Parts: sequence; structure tokens; C-alpha cells
Amino acid sequence: MTVPLVERFRDRLPVSPSTPVVSLGEGSTPLLPAPRLSERLGLELWLKWEPANPSGSYKDRGMTMAVTKAVESGAVALVCASTGNTAASAAAYAARAGITAVVLQPEGAVAAGKLAQSRIHGARVLEVRGSFDEALEAAKLLAERGTHVLVNSLNPYRIEGQKTAVFEIVEELGEAPDVFVVPYGGGGNTVSYAKGLSELGAHARLVSAQAADRRHTVATAIRIADPAHARVVAQLDAQVVTVSDEQILAAWEGLARIEGLFCEPSSAAGLAALALDPPRGACVVATITGHGLKDPEAASRIAPETVLVDPDPDAIADAAGGP
Ligand code: F0G
Repeated sequence: MTVPLVERFRDRLPVSPSTPVVSLGEGSTPLLPAPRLSERLGLELWLKWEPANPSGSYKDRGMTMAVTKAVESGAVALVCASTGNTAASAAAYAARAGITAVVLQPEGAVAAGKLAQSRIHGARVLEVRGSFDEALEAAKLLAERGTHVLVNSLNPYRIEGQKTAVFEIVEELGEAPDVFVVPYGGGGNTVSYAKGLSELGAHARLVSAQAADRRHTVATAIRIADPAHARVVAQLDAQVVTVSDEQILAAWEGLARIEGLFCEPSSAAGLAALALDPPRGACVVATITGHGLKDPEAASRIAPETVLVDPDPDAIADAAGGP
């Protein structure tokens, strides 16, 4: 049985024996070697495969903590603004806890899989006429009224839960890698990784990869103009690297083709940053944040078309174009 994240790291999280843990079996995700990418980049690359979390993204690490603490405080409703993954995760944990989730999403800018998740869990899914940043402002104002608990990464329990990824990685490798690489949207995960490292008393370079055109990037999960944690990220010992959409898409397709791992485009931002300036010989852990199945349309835009054939071996051999 998967040990819930809050139980596994209970001694390093703000919970007491009476805290009612809301869990879907998150955390304890695979740390996968990436032999072919390692060879190409001239380094030792590991991938922290966060799509193995129950809702398919790393958000579940933070959400189990945020919802656990919300329920402990007697809350009956959550609110978040989201580019899709926070919403899907909040919707899932709210369903598990038997409370309401209101999710605010920028109109027309959320990938189909994420939208389906929020809806099937019974969240109140509201498309906001505006950007993610405007939706977040509205969510904060609603939360200030005291009716709903904000479960964006401005909620400190989200950061607490997400720092556990660092604990797992360091435990599995036996020491901290030389470099951690994460995508940079709002910056919550960058802050979480820095906190995890500092609590371990460990040192590593932290690289945070952002889209060059934050407002319009194809990587919709990180389409955030004004990162909520920008000021904290600037004060951290983190290196912010900017990558173009073309570089993100090349890294994304490369991961699928070369290593057999299908993530969503935003999750490949870190790999794109690595490819720009590979730290030769270093041990690098790149966190892959969300599953490719969340955004099937992005894949259909660039992946080869299917071919229609008759159920006939000659026609199939011909269309397959050799073994
Ligand atoms: N990767 C994925 C798959 C994401 O969904 C997000 C953020 C990030 C990376 C960026 O992480 O914000 O901690 O710097 N998604 C948020 C959401 C904004 O609403 O789901 P960050």
C-alpha cells in the first residue's frame, strides 16, 4: 500500500496526531533514469516522474496538505484560480473530503484533460473572462471574505507538501544531486524545492525554467504573466532560465521519442533549459510536473497523423513501411 505523503513525512510537516489526513495516495513517485538524454547532454539525468500522482501532477503533494489543514480548521469550501492542474487536484481532494471546490480558470485556456478532471469530480468550474492573473486576484478576494479557503500556492501548506519531492529525491539518491531543474509558472514549486533543500541542510543548484512569452506560451500550465512568488524566487539562490516555445516543444517531443515518457508541454520547460547549457558531468534531477494525457490536443498538433488501412496484412505491411 502506498503510504500517504503526510504519513511518510509526518515529522517534517505541520500536522498533529489528531489531524484528519485527506489522502489519495500521493507522493512516493518514481525517480527514473534517462540514459539516452543523459548521453546526449553529457550528464547524469534523473527524472522525478510527478505524473504518477493521483491526479496526474505534482500539485497533489501540496493539495493533500492544504485540504487536510482546511478540513482540520472546519472549512467546507475551497477556491483556487488555475491554469488547470491545481483545479483538477483541488477538485479531486475536495471530492475525497466531501467539501466544495470552486475553481476559476482563464476562459478557453485550459487543456481538455484537466477540464474534464475538474468537472467529473463535481467542482464548480467557472471560466473567468480574463487571464489567470485576474482569476487569482478574484480568488484571493473571495477567500478574504472567509467563506472559502484559498488553495493556490499562496497557501503555505501547499509549499509544505510540495517540499517533500526534495526529501524523496535526496533519500533515493543518497545525497542531493548537483542540480535540480523545475518549470517556473507562479514559482510555488521553486520556493518549495528551496525550502526542502534548506530543511535538509543540503546544497544544490536550483534552476527554474520560465517561458519567454509568459502571456501567450503554448505551455498553458505556465501561462502566467505575473508570478505570485516572483519576489521570493528573486531572493532565492535559484537561477531563472528563459526558454522559447520552440525550445519547450522540442524538449517535450524529444522526451516522448527518446525516453518513452509523455508529459505535458510545460513539464518539459526544465529540460529545454538544460539543453541550452548542459552542466557537463553533473548529476541532474529534472522534475516532470504533469502527464501528457492532460493535454492530448497539444500532441495532435505536432505528432504524426494516423494512417487508415484495410484489415489486410499486405496493406498493413505496405503502410507500415518496413519493420
Ligand atoms: N508544471 C505544471 C504541469 C503546472 O501545472 C504548473 C503550474 C507548473 C509547472 C508551474 O509551477 O506555478 O509552482 O511555478 N500550474 C498552476 C495551475 C499555475 O494552476 O495548475 P509553479
